[in-house]
Amino acid sequence: MKKIFAANWKLQKTPAQAKEFCETFRAQLVAHTYFWDHKEVFIFPQNFSLDTVIHATNDTPVFVGPQNIHFEKSGAFTGENSAAFAKDMGAKTILLGHSERRQFFGETNEALNKKVKLCQELDLLPVFCIGETLAQREANETEKVCFEQLTQSLNGIDKSKRMIVAYEPVWAIGTGKVATVAQVKEIHEKLYHKMSDLNFTNFQLLYGGSVKPDNAQELLQVPHVDGFLIGGAALEVDSFMKICSH
Ligand code: 13P
Repeated sequence: MKKIFAANWKLQKTPAQAKEFCETFRAQLVAHTYFWDHKEVFIFPQNFSLDTVIHATNDTPVFVGPQNIHFEKSGAFTGENSAAFAKDMGAKTILLGHSERRQFFGETNEALNKKVKLCQELDLLPVFCIGETLAQREANETEKVCFEQLTQSLNGIDKSKRMIVAYEPVWAIGTGKVATVAQVKEIHEKLYHKMSDLNFTNFQLLYGGSVKPDNAQELLQVPHVDGFLIGGAALEVDSFMKICSH
């Protein structure tokens, strides 16, 4: 199975900076058949840079998409972003349920369920984030929280369609505090079995939270870690490439 390397640029990189990143990245990899035979790369730019990134990578297999969408395709929803418009622009994927969206913008499992369904309707590949806060981990609620996020948000969807789930412990995001191999192993094992029990037949599991070039290798050896969702270390071509080289 191909390893997945997904860059979440959050609210960073202007179109010009995004273009520069993609041109450098593309120049090193566009003709690298071995790389593309073994890896999948996703980039989630800020929406104003989306078109730039789609065009700058359009001769590569990179999956590009927004970091959030509204659950309706169109209508009177001032300030929202449409998955249908993103698809029309050439997007192939959507990042959904990131903890920053849940934490700062009140995103609920119920709203996410509608968003996942819309992605499936439009044939856009969801990269769906789950994860517990530090308080939840300390209260031994990691499994309960993650399972609830999965069951409530993925309820009633087509389980034969490809689905990527990114486990990102909130306490490890942007903090430099990476989860230990033992912690990642334990939760990924449980998530793998939960997804199988829920009858998903085509899914991959990513780890995210302070992934860096120097911890990528050991994390990628953990069973059921199919790749990474990367924030800070995906902002520079060099460090992103180093992570992708594993
Ligand atoms: P960092 O890699 O900066 O910890 O961010 C992780 C993340 O939130 C990716 O979605």
